[in-house]
Amino acid sequence: MRLFKSKFPAIPTSEITPELIYKNRRQFIKQATALSLAATYPLNVSWSSQQQPEKIFNQLPKSKFSTEEELTDYKKVISYNNFYEFGLGKTTIAELAQNFKPRPWTLSVEGECDKPKIWDIDELIKQFPVEERIYRLRCVEAWSMVIPWVGFELNKLIKASQPTSNAKYIAFETLHDKEQMPGQRFKLLGYVLPWPYREGLRMDEALHPLTILSVGLYGEVLPKQNGAPIRLIVPWKYGFKSIKSIIKIKFTKREPYATWHRTNPEEYGFYANVNPEVDHPRWSQAKERRIGEFFKRPTLMFNGYAEQVASMYKYMDLTRRF
Ligand code: MTE
Repeated sequence: MRLFKSKFPAIPTSEITPELIYKNRRQFIKQATALSLAATYPLNVSWSSQQQPEKIFNQLPKSKFSTEEELTDYKKVISYNNFYEFGLGKTTIAELAQNFKPRPWTLSVEGECDKPKIWDIDELIKQFPVEERIYRLRCVEAWSMVIPWVGFELNKLIKASQPTSNAKYIAFETLHDKEQMPGQRFKLLGYVLPWPYREGLRMDEALHPLTILSVGLYGEVLPKQNGAPIRLIVPWKYGFKSIKSIIKIKFTKREPYATWHRTNPEEYGFYANVNPEVDHPRWSQAKERRIGEFFKRPTLMFNGYAEQVASMYKYMDLTRRF
């Protein structure tokens, strides 16, 4: 997402964690967790007493929807972020988000449904067991990553909420808290982006099995900068649809407000499907740079998920409804 045209910023090599170190660290965390816990947490979740409040998801089932592509380095995933509530600089979000408190946290499900409910985040994870989903995430800025998310299908929560026949869309809202989110205090950003950050999906998109709510990545609880404690992941859409730190989900009759689309409809569509044939007005969407790689690679239609999702857009002119 760009407010101003700028060159792609390189990631300093000092931020790169060799795979071996990552694996050893994971091993250490696993062992420490096993040793320190007298009893395991009743879900597939446990906390390491030595590394509070770090939380580890144990023995995650692997999803059949995962890609087998090489994972993006963990350190890069947690240190190169877009999260305007904390600021504009991608490499500074991790630091700026450290005082953010993702627990206790509630997620309100409301609107056109028979079973509205305010869920406590841990109750939600208990109710809808999580699995590992390795997805490509392709940002509108033409960079991409491959990330092992931890999450559950959004359709499970939707079904439990029993939407009425009026529910045609689903709206999402991020926390609005100037005390915790310094970007919401910053005047210039306040003029550009009206808070809270909001997003929306059509009901069939929300029900699609590829659409997940994520509560973790790389087997750990979701880092603050990546949208703790719960965020949306829609792998065939540009990254800005994957709204972070969600506090509200609402079933609606009409197309909901979507922040980037409403603030700049010429550049950002409501659908925001990854489409190499429809360029952003200021840059091409034909190629992307996988974070950690030097050469660009071609961007795939629907981010490579065309087989699963293209039928939902069969009768739509994707150059107009981008
Ligand atoms: N959600 C909120 N609330 N605020 C944001 O600024 N940025 C979006 C999306 N979700 C954003 C957000 C954009 S532009 C991208 S590319 C992804 O988050 C980045 O997710 P990541 O930092 O985990 O890679």
